[in-house]
Formats: sequence, structure tokens, C-alpha cells
Amino acid sequence: MSRFERKILFAIGLAVFLALGGSIFLAQGALRDVYAVGVNERFGAELVHGVEARRGQLIALRVGSDQVADAVLWAVEAQLARSRSDTALDSLLTELLDRYEGVQSIRLIDDADEVLANVVRPPDPVGGALRTTIRDRETGRGAGKLRIAVEVSVPERYFERLQEAGEVADVYSRLQQQGASVSDVYAWVFGVLAFLVILVAFLIGAIVSRRVTRRVTDLADASRKVGAGDLTVALPTGARDEITELTKAFNQMVRDLRDSRTRIEYLQRIGAWQDFARRLAHEIKNPLTPIQLAAQEMSETYAGEDEDYQKKLLQARAIIEEEVATLRRLVGEFSAFAKLPRADLSPSDLCELIESIRISIPAVLEDVGHGAAAPVEVQLTCATEPIRVRMDPMMLKRGVDNILRNAIQAVYEAHPTGGGRVLVRAYQSQGSGFVEIRDNGPGIDEKNWERVFDPYYTTKAEGTGLGLAIVKKVVLEHGGEVRLDRAPEGGARFSIELPLMES
Ligand SMILES: Nc1ncnc2c1ncn2[C@@H]1O[C@H](COP(=O)(O)OP(=O)(O)O)[C@@H](O)[C@H]1O
Ligand SMILES: [Mg+2]
Repeated sequence: MSRFERKILFAIGLAVFLALGGSIFLAQGALRDVYAVGVNERFGAELVHGVEARRGQLIALRVGSDQVADAVLWAVEAQLARSRSDTALDSLLTELLDRYEGVQSIRLIDDADEVLANVVRPPDPVGGALRTTIRDRETGRGAGKLRIAVEVSVPERYFERLQEAGEVADVYSRLQQQGASVSDVYAWVFGVLAFLVILVAFLIGAIVSRRVTRRVTDLADASRKVGAGDLTVALPTGARDEITELTKAFNQMVRDLRDSRTRIEYLQRIGAWQDFARRLAHEIKNPLTPIQLAAQEMSETYAGEDEDYQKKLLQARAIIEEEVATLRRLVGEFSAFAKLPRADLSPSDLCELIESIRISIPAVLEDVGHGAAAPVEVQLTCATEPIRVRMDPMMLKRGVDNILRNAIQAVYEAHPTGGGRVLVRAYQSQGSGFVEIRDNGPGIDEKNWERVFDPYYTTKAEGTGLGLAIVKKVVLEHGGEVRLDRAPEGGARFSIELPLMES
């Protein structure tokens, strides 16, 4: 785990711990307060008293019903002692039923289990449920034994109320006993929840910080690689955040470094080739004059009679002079390349360059077309607005000239009887000025697009391969770039890009 990740996780842990710790503490306190107010001894005692009172009421009811039963018994016994007539008994029982509200029925049963009399209170339509007790008495007075069954009832709701009150008191006393442990349970649940929250927060924090640190370490690794000279590194830019900004800036920096390294390498290479060209020109140039003089001397001082030999001598002298002339031309080009000055930049307009090229076109056509009335059409265009760049007009003209000569040569060979076209145009686009030279010649094979800019690369019998090398050197010294691809009309397209001046 990196130091950054540890710091992030520590911060998350601290924040969560403080927040949750504080709330646990507060919640526990609040719970205790609630208990202290709602669950206390006095409330409990009052509830118990209420239950006791209800119970007393019920006992009183039961005692009452016993007394009623006894009273009924006595009245019936007294009547039996007086007379056993059925009608008298019935009317007594009916009267008793009227007198004692709680009595539901009275029955007289004799020895042989025969019911002698039975009165039943008609059901009360709004009375609700009743709990009934039967008081069974025997009496020995009078003739034979008799049983009296008095059914006495108490409304069921009294019992229900007692039960409810008992339950409430029960719950209350349980709450009172558990007061301390309940708040502990809440604290536990809260603690477990807090632990889970911390765990989740840590996981999320770990994932986020791991992603951030991985990208930062990737950047650090890439920077080390760049430091070690590897300029091919490029980091992926996915998310939209500050690190992506940094990564983009880093990639741009590596690209710029790569560009300027290629530039420097090419210029160094050109410098070496210039040294080589200087030595070569020097070594070749010196013996040329003696060779030419010797050939002249030989042909002029021959005094023999052999005509054939005389002729051969003249032929040899012509060949030697021709080759020496070619060599002189090459030497001239080599030393011109060797002496190529550095570009001296000053503010200028690309359209002026186009105009100066326009003036030199007839001479170039004459030169490249070897005097023939070259059937090559050269078209030059420029924007109406000036295209302001910093340039060395002489050097850049020389560069464009080299490209133009190649193009004219190529289309002249491809269309010797006419139809060859070369287009030169200057324009500006996206902060850069461009000069584009394209033709309808045979074009260049894509695999040679890099090599044509190398010094001494040529496909021509009398070529030096220096033209495009000079172009590239000049353009690089302008802080620009020269590119090659295929023209829409099928030939080669060279494109010089120069940075526009800030207006
Ligand atoms: N417009 C063009 N069309 C076809 N080939 C071209 C064109 N321009 C340059 N080349 C190729 O690039 C080579 C290098 O050109 P350059 O450096 O000017 O040297 P040289 O003209 O002396 O051969 C040429 O020999 C030719 O093969
Ligand atoms: Mg050339």
C-alpha cells in the first residue's frame, strides 16, 4: 500500500470514527433519558395498585354472588317450610329473580334428580358476555332432601379488564428490570452497524485511492522511462479528472520531446553529411583540372601518323571532358550543400514566396525540360490574406524550388507529350501556414516516404539525392515540418508546415 493510500484511508477512518462514535455516545445518552422519564418506580407502583384494586373488585363480586346464592337458598327453604305448592314456589322464584340482578337461573331438584322448579332470566339483549358460577346447596329441611342450584353471573368485561391491567403492569415491570440492558442492546446494534459502515467506507476508499495511486505511479514510471530516453511511451487517458489532464499534458510533452529529438537527430545527421560532402568535393575537385589538362595534352601532342589512334585519342578526350564536366557539376552541388547556411528567420508572407517562385518558373522549366518547350503546366495560388510566418525567404525559396524541380521532372517524364500538371499553393489552417506542391506524375512508393529525405537517396542516373535533404534541413530550421503523401491526382504531394506568427 502506498503512502498516499494510507493517508486517504486514515482520513476516511478518522472521519467515520468521529461521526459514528459521537452518534453512538449521543444515542445511548438519549435512550437513557427516555427510560429515566418513562420507566420509573412510581409509575410501576401505581400500575400495580390499579391491578390490586381490580382484583379486589372481582373478589367482592364473587363474595356478593355467594351471598346472593345463600339469600336465595334461605328464602326457598323458608317457603318450603311453609308450603310446597308449585305455584307458590314458582312465584317466589320469579320474585327472587327480579330482586337479585346477578342471578341468572334458579333450579330445584329433588332426591330422584327430578326438576321441581326452574326459572331462567330472559337473555339481556345488550348485556354482553357473562361469566357464570353455579352455587349448589342442599337442604334437609321439610320432606326429603332437595338441591338448589343458583346460577350467578358477573359480566365478562370485569375479568378482561383485570387481565389487561395485569398484562400492562407485567410489561412495565419487565421494562423496568431491563432498562439498563435494553440501552446496551441498542448500543451493540449501533456498534455493529457502525463497524459495517466503517468497513464499507474503507473498501470504497481503498478502491478509489488504489485507482488514483495506480495512475500516479504509472505516470512516475513513464517519466522514468522518458528520463532513460524512451520517447515512445504514451499513457491512456480515460476518466475526466485532474489526473487525466496531467496525463494528457505528459503525453503532449513526450510527443514534443520526440519531435524535437527527431529534428535534432536529423539536423545532426545532415551536419555529418555536410562534412562528408565538403571533403568529397574537395578530394574530387582537386584532381579534375590535372585530369582534363592531361587529356588535352595527350590529344594535342600526338605526333604519330596512325589516324585510328588519333581518332581514339580525340574520342577519349571528349569522354573525359564530358565526365569531368559532370563531376564538376556534382562537386558544385556537393560544396553548395556543404556550405548551406543556417536559415536566418524574419517576419514574412508566404504569398510573397509564391510570387517570387512564379517569376522563376520559366527558367526552371527551361532548365529541367532541357530546353524543350516543356509541355508542363505549373499553377501557383495563394490566399488573398497574407500568411505571416517567420522565414528565411532565400532558403525557403530554394527548398520549394527543389521540390518543384523534382515534380516538373517527374511529370515531364510521365507525360512527355503534354498533360503534366504541377500545383503550388500556400494557405493557412489551424495556426499553421502551409505550402503544398503536388503533381500528377508517377508518385512515390509509400515505403520510401521517409527515405527520400535522406541525403544521397536518388533514383536518377545523374541525381545527387541532395535536393529533398536540403528541403528538410531548411524546413526544420524554420521550426516546421515537411510531409509527403499521395496527391489526389495520383502523383506526389509535399506539404511544408510552418508555425504562424502571433498576430
Ligand atoms: N515529385 C516526385 N515524383 C516522383 N518521385 C519523386 C518526386 N520528388 C522526389 N522524388 C524521388 O525522390 C528522390 C530524391 O529526390 P532528391 O532528394 O531531390 O534527389 P534527386 O532529385 O537528386 O534525385 C528522387 O530521386 C525521386 O526518386
Ligand atoms: Mg532533386
